[in-house]
Amino acid sequence: MKKIRVLVAKPGLDGHDRGALVIAQALRDHGMEVIYTGLRQSPAQIAQAAVQEDVDVIGLSSLSGAHRTLFPKVLQELDDRNASDIPVIGGGVIPSEDIPYLLDKGIKKIFTSGSSTELLATYIMEMIDPKTSSKKPPKQISHIGIAVENIDAALSFYTDSLGLELEAVEKIESEGVKVAFIKIGESRLELLEPLNEKSAIRKFLDKKGEGIHHIALEVGDIRTRLQQLKQQGIPLINEEAKTGARNSQIAFIHPKTANGVLYELCQHEGSDD
Ligand code: CO
Repeated sequence: MKKIRVLVAKPGLDGHDRGALVIAQALRDHGMEVIYTGLRQSPAQIAQAAVQEDVDVIGLSSLSGAHRTLFPKVLQELDDRNASDIPVIGGGVIPSEDIPYLLDKGIKKIFTSGSSTELLATYIMEMIDPKTSSKKPPKQISHIGIAVENIDAALSFYTDSLGLELEAVEKIESEGVKVAFIKIGESRLELLEPLNEKSAIRKFLDKKGEGIHHIALEVGDIRTRLQQLKQQGIPLINEEAKTGARNSQIAFIHPKTANGVLYELCQHEGSDD
């Protein structure tokens, strides 16, 4: 297979390029050909180099805070050379509030300080060869799990006061819980009542009282996704999917990776990608 060619560039006046050099080396380690422009390149020089080197993707790094003007200028310079088909991604020090602006201008993706070179390399490979991609984002919030002492006592607020529809009540003996699904649009509220003392919901109620327990994200291929998360070093509570309510396949991600929020991945029948 032809090697992916990446131009790593630093527009503007940044004083050092350690981060860019680390990224360039990491991408080489993933089998890519990396051309690095060096410090203090103008958007025109970057676009020119990208065209001359016939690269597949441009990675811009900015630390100086000038990304809001410089990144869109690179896109403009590419457009001027009929090269707007070369995707441009960015990273460095980019405040999250600037990300929607840059995406809106046409930058394909911004990598923040929390992401890894591993994720960056995977993203580039999947962008260039979409056949390798199996990482579609979760489709929607499947449900929000709420721990309650007693479903019957809790229901009236949802069905009478809010007027929502109770869709199903089910006991999941293996988990020691009774669940009630309340439909809200395409999502659900899932009331969870403990059936015995060993239930995780019992322990949650004793520790924290009633309240939000987890957020469930609907995914396509839960098995593949669990493998991918594992490869990324995301701590999982369940490394294999198990059967949950309404015949779904579910697995939990450890809350320490997600700001204290317990996330469930779930895949319902007929929701294969
Ligand atoms: Co759930």
